[in-house]
Amino acid sequence: GTEIPVQANVGNAALSVAAGSREVTILFGSQTGNCSGLAKKISKKLMDQGAQVTVSSMSDFKPNSLKKVQNLLILVSTHGEGEPPDNAISFFEFLHGKRAPQLEGMSFSILALGDTSYEFFCQTGKDFDKRLEELGGKRLVPRMDCDVDFDEPAAEWMNSVLQAFNEGNTAGISGSQAAVISPSEGESDYSRTNPFQAEILENLNLNGRGSDRETRHVEISLEGSGLQYEPGDSLGIYPENHPNLVDDLIRAMDWNPNESITINKHGDVLLLREALMKHYEISVLTKPLLLKVAEISSNPQLKELLEAGHEQELRGYIEERDLLDLVQDYSLKGLPAQSFADILRKLPARLYSIASSSKAYPDEVHVTVRSVRYDAYGRDRYGVCSVQLAERLQSGDSLPVYIQHNPNFKLPVNPDTPIIMIGPGTGVAPFRAFLGDREESGAEGKTWLFYGDQHFSTDFLYQTEWQRWLKDGVLSRMDVAFSRDTDKKIYVQHRMLEQSRELYEWLQEGACVYVCGDEKKMAHDVHATLAAILEQEGGLSPEAAAEYLLQMQQEKRYQRDVY
Ligand code: 2AM
Repeated sequence: GTEIPVQANVGNAALSVAAGSREVTILFGSQTGNCSGLAKKISKKLMDQGAQVTVSSMSDFKPNSLKKVQNLLILVSTHGEGEPPDNAISFFEFLHGKRAPQLEGMSFSILALGDTSYEFFCQTGKDFDKRLEELGGKRLVPRMDCDVDFDEPAAEWMNSVLQAFNEGNTAGISGSQAAVISPSEGESDYSRTNPFQAEILENLNLNGRGSDRETRHVEISLEGSGLQYEPGDSLGIYPENHPNLVDDLIRAMDWNPNESITINKHGDVLLLREALMKHYEISVLTKPLLLKVAEISSNPQLKELLEAGHEQELRGYIEERDLLDLVQDYSLKGLPAQSFADILRKLPARLYSIASSSKAYPDEVHVTVRSVRYDAYGRDRYGVCSVQLAERLQSGDSLPVYIQHNPNFKLPVNPDTPIIMIGPGTGVAPFRAFLGDREESGAEGKTWLFYGDQHFSTDFLYQTEWQRWLKDGVLSRMDVAFSRDTDKKIYVQHRMLEQSRELYEWLQEGACVYVCGDEKKMAHDVHATLAAILEQEGGLSPEAAAEYLLQMQQEKRYQRDVY
């Protein structure tokens, strides 16, 4: 069926708060920290209502104590092909395994974060919801599935939860009013919903002449914002769509660029061209969007694409095309701009791993952004934010930013703990922040960086900085893999395997492992290589190696920032 960000239909299932209970356990699991932010928000309101609240990351929660939980709230995002985020994996597996307890008498509800442009939208939230019901739990309020722009549906879910508790807790007694959460609750400072207009100080291409790559090093001023960050955090940037794409779209639809468009339910208005540049997502398609377009256009070919039997074709189309393709391929010219605008998603911010230490650069934040450009279906395609940074933003210009804290990618608390950093390509960015921080704080722990890209001569990002840190001893070891300087491709994981003995010794000494960069291929291959090293050097069976890595994840000794 259609998947839109509304409350899931749970039929006639009874909704209940465990009788008279004021205890609530809130568990969150997310890669980016969105779920932990929301969890804190609702826990505060529940405490204000007199509930006894325990909030914890799923990875910190002792599964054995689940039996005692009376009311469980789960806030969880979904990754990749419908997988749980790293810090949710072990709890997810426990719950789906044989050791999971029966949960009769427990009430629960799920807030699922996701993205409708992915096939397995909110899958992890759906899996938890189904499993908790199988184990005998009762839904407190229906699960809420949120798209990228989650603030409003998340607030709606939180308010239903608060209401349910309020009613449950005051049964028989004249009820007090449930607290109400607004979408931007508790965000007095600059945040995702209230970004800071930050000035660009520096915007350089890090790649040498002749490289296939363009990677921008962008330095941004945070002066006067009060924004603070730690190594491992990300910078959210609200980009603008490419003006050529916007103009082509307006032309293809025969729209008037100066028509006034109402962009939200508060009645805010922008001229169409500006709205398409700044407010709406036009370079990504989703199935819910196509369904709505089919509804307002009644195009028979589009209807057919959405019918059963065309799933694979539909998936391929959604993955590779944008709104301009859609309106051209399905001759949508003539549809009114406002009705089209009403069904578009809001242009979401892009997240970049921060490449600077604020100890080294007070009041500044640096990011490392690779320009995404390719040709497909007869025209040039551009990454929205990366190409805006590459082509249309210079020092002196400003752009809306916020800090996205990432509790799941943090330096060890103990400055003596050795760290192993694996970050090919732009994945190296946070390690510039890590080493800058360790340098400034005078941390003594050993550090080891695995880095790679295509060519040594043109693509060695921040080369002089690593060399200086090697000389100063801030960086103890560095192994590089330039994949296209040799006949046979050499990747970071090959270098890891070459050093397997020493790498294993570092692990035995308690080193923390960090992986940043491409999720689908690199992070997957690096994971397999870590397992191979444990088997080869530690004599572990494949199962024991997998368990060892899971344990490391649990103990936050193996953290990933992958995309
Ligand atoms: P390639 O483009 O030559 O295949 C940064 O993008 C570096 O990561 C490049 O050298 C790229 O090599 C490499 N890379 C591509 N796929 C990878 C994988 N599966 N594992 C590790 N590195 C990979």
